[in-house]
Amino acid sequence: MKKNSLSIVLEIYDDINELPDQIEKLMLEAQKARELAYAPYSRFKVGAAVLLANERIVLGNNQENAAYPSGLCAERVAVFAAGANYPETEIKAIAITARAGDRILTEPIAPCGSCRQAMAEYEHKQHSPIEVFFMGEDGPVYRLKSVADLLPLGFSSKYL
Ligand code: THU
Repeated sequence: MKKNSLSIVLEIYDDINELPDQIEKLMLEAQKARELAYAPYSRFKVGAAVLLANERIVLGNNQENAAYPSGLCAERVAVFAAGANYPETEIKAIAITARAGDRILTEPIAPCGSCRQAMAEYEHKQHSPIEVFFMGEDGPVYRLKSVADLLPLGFSSKYL
């Protein structure tokens, strides 16, 4: 029997204004998108901003539905919009932020498992990492070098 340990490097910025300028701007766009979320059921608003290699920013937010499972998370709305509108353009980074209806979120809110899988697909497609930045409403921002860091041992087309 062998044991392997997998490790990730999590960079922590104490505040949004410590981020590199371009990423701070990206996170501010995610915050704006967050406020436009359609979340009447959970009141939990999430915004995501995708930075493309051509410097364009593509936004997404969670879109809920009275038939709950028919709704979609912000991250998938954003990466699917990027894939739909700029299918040949690499994704460099995604910034994610969330706001709850009843309290201030000061802890970074990590993407759900389905969004990790969906984001990982684009990394595999483009053969280069997508940086991930995520935060709550206020407080620290977490930075990961790659979606793969959020989804170790993930499933991909290489198994098909
Ligand atoms: N949500 C996201 O938008 N992204 C995530 O990664 C986790 C959850 C949304 C889905 C739903 O509209 C609300 O947050 C509460 O789960």
